[in-house]
Amino acid sequence: MYVQRPIAILDSGVGGLTVVREVMRQLPREKVIYFGDTARTPYGPRPAEEVVRFTREIVTYLMQYNPKMIIIACNTATAVALEEIRSVVDVPVIGVINPGARAAINSTKSGVVGIIGTVGTVRSRAYEQALKRLNPNIHVASLACPLFVPLVEQGNFHSPETFHIVEDSLTPLKEIPLDTLILGCTHYPFLSESIGRAVGPGVQLISSDNETAREMSTILQETGKLASQAELPVHRFFCSGDPALFKSIAQQWLGKQIELTPVVWQIPQIGNH
Ligand code: DGL
Repeated sequence: MYVQRPIAILDSGVGGLTVVREVMRQLPREKVIYFGDTARTPYGPRPAEEVVRFTREIVTYLMQYNPKMIIIACNTATAVALEEIRSVVDVPVIGVINPGARAAINSTKSGVVGIIGTVGTVRSRAYEQALKRLNPNIHVASLACPLFVPLVEQGNFHSPETFHIVEDSLTPLKEIPLDTLILGCTHYPFLSESIGRAVGPGVQLISSDNETAREMSTILQETGKLASQAELPVHRFFCSGDPALFKSIAQQWLGKQIELTPVVWQIPQIGNH
């Protein structure tokens, strides 16, 4: 049995493209519809209720394309909205936190794991809980890095300025004997070169993209919902902010041309921030 409906993937901006690239690599026949809420990024500093509301709005928008599955490719939104989204749609919904935690548990030998993420993700303690559910003996050090997402949204991945900001932000982790660092924000793999240089070669960087795509693949396979091999998918991208900037970052990251539709939010409360 095959199901040709798309996979819906969402994030506050371009970060979820790190998951999209992995989904396309692992399951090239699946059609992706992606929403980057670049008009309202970053989500990290926002109150949880607002992130839940924004996530619901994006899911409502994407549901008109009748997806067979939803991936919340945003740690901040996964931390606060995953359960609520699961309760309002009738398709499987996965987030990026449990997959990231599993990948970290798989990687660590010392049992000391660092997590970097947005203020919202760190405040939620969702990674810590996910890691401890898997292994209560794990030691966890969490650090919020609020300067990283704006760098990525500007497309500023490799400049010397970016490296200095990354290095400065990660200074508090220097004293901690971790061997594994979770990139607990889907934007951070864009900065992995600088992050890797800052923490040194002894620390394994973990991003949830690979494990999240694998979880998706398992669910589709076990429920008989993989796309057939018959057609090559035409992916669709939506963003609520600057379309030229989104397109340029997306095409650079994915290494291919994309079909982008700009979305103007028509919801009255937007613009009050
Ligand atoms: N990429 C998102 C995350 O994984 C959100 C970043 C933000 O908008 O602050 O947390």
